[in-house]
Amino acid sequence: MSSLQVCAACGDKLHELDPRARCDCGGLLEVRHDPPPVTGAALRERFDARMGSLDPLDRSGVWRFRELVLPSAADQVVSHPEGNTPLLARAPIADWTGIAGLRLKHEGHNPTGSFKDRGMTVGVTQARRIGSRAVACASTGNTAAALAAYGAQAGLPVLVFVPTGQVALGKLAQSLAYGAKTLLVRGDFDACLRLVQQVADELGVYLLNSINPFRVEGQKTIVLELLQQCGWRVPDWIAFPAGNLGNTAAFGKALAEARVLGLIDRLPRLAAIQAAGAAPFALGFQEGFARRHRVTAETVATAIKIGDPASWDRAVRSIRETNGVVATVTDAEILEAKAIVDAAGVGCEPASAASVAGVKALRARGIIAPEADVVAVLTGHVLKDPGALLSYHRETEPAPAHANRPIEIEPTVAAVAAVFGRS
Ligand code: F0G
Repeated sequence: MSSLQVCAACGDKLHELDPRARCDCGGLLEVRHDPPPVTGAALRERFDARMGSLDPLDRSGVWRFRELVLPSAADQVVSHPEGNTPLLARAPIADWTGIAGLRLKHEGHNPTGSFKDRGMTVGVTQARRIGSRAVACASTGNTAAALAAYGAQAGLPVLVFVPTGQVALGKLAQSLAYGAKTLLVRGDFDACLRLVQQVADELGVYLLNSINPFRVEGQKTIVLELLQQCGWRVPDWIAFPAGNLGNTAAFGKALAEARVLGLIDRLPRLAAIQAAGAAPFALGFQEGFARRHRVTAETVATAIKIGDPASWDRAVRSIRETNGVVATVTDAEILEAKAIVDAAGVGCEPASAASVAGVKALRARGIIAPEADVVAVLTGHVLKDPGALLSYHRETEPAPAHANRPIEIEPTVAAVAAVFGRS
């Protein structure tokens, strides 16, 4: 089996190993694979059988679905492994949203703590296949952490471009730890993305932002794996935070392909959730996507602080094809949702909590029915952003409703008893 890259704008076809980040016409590329030898129930059984296998490729939650990811790469894969993230049901979180059947697909359980590992195992595998001399990305932090780790594993030099002063501490620490050349750009994420595209073109470095079509192939497996965990029964809704729109694009592609191949017989509706201060895609949705919007982004959820998302056209298609919605939530709603998710013992970073806040908001607006079967994707780990956490619990005045203030005491039993009595 092999694959092709097809330009979504002009239809030009590029070889699977062509290193260009975009088509020469400027359009985004899309990967298409030869159809797998089996479809429908037989393909489901093949994927399910691999869950009990000891083969390292089968044990990756990305490469288990390799016929739909990158079938011809099997012997060159750079895998941690990744994926195999849990699908959780937690009553306090479900109750808070008003959706009893809510489940959480926790992508923070990936090796570098976010869903980005799913795209990077494929992107870095491809970088190695085409003989790249170095790899690069712009990032709000998680993409950089994932590329730094997978690039290190592949022995490739890594260049990451992040907006100075706007990256959560855990993510910045990871990029440094994994040895990436970390460039703190005086500008926002959108400026970083423009710069890295120029650098990739002019310096011949392989670009691994989510406009890279091989990353999209890896990120599709969030949806494939969650469908598999649902016994291939399709939920009514999948909700997730949306920034640069890579996931929005990947989820729509995964679902369309899953239906064509008979893995599923209907589509869930997608709910892409943006922070109110970084919501160009939600603006577009309100106008039926009549035109592309760009904004100057501002939100506490730094992962999705993006004003000019790159995968706009692909994401529009995903929303249209799934009868999806794009909604916004305020920073206060994000922080409250995060406090609920954290206090349930689950934990996630601020951007991830946007999906849970979005489910509650869409329930309140009557768009999601109370009995609906909903999966919300938690995209990143609670330790990614300790700064936002400590500020909420320790520093915000007056204390937010769910703040858990630390208490400093003298080293005496009496002091403990006084605190204990109080609670
Ligand atoms: N959640 C988290 C934790 C993220 O890191 C990102 C994106 C998103 C959601 C949004 O996903 O861009 O596919 O719409 N982070 C990118 C980065 C931009 O550089 O790490 P998207």
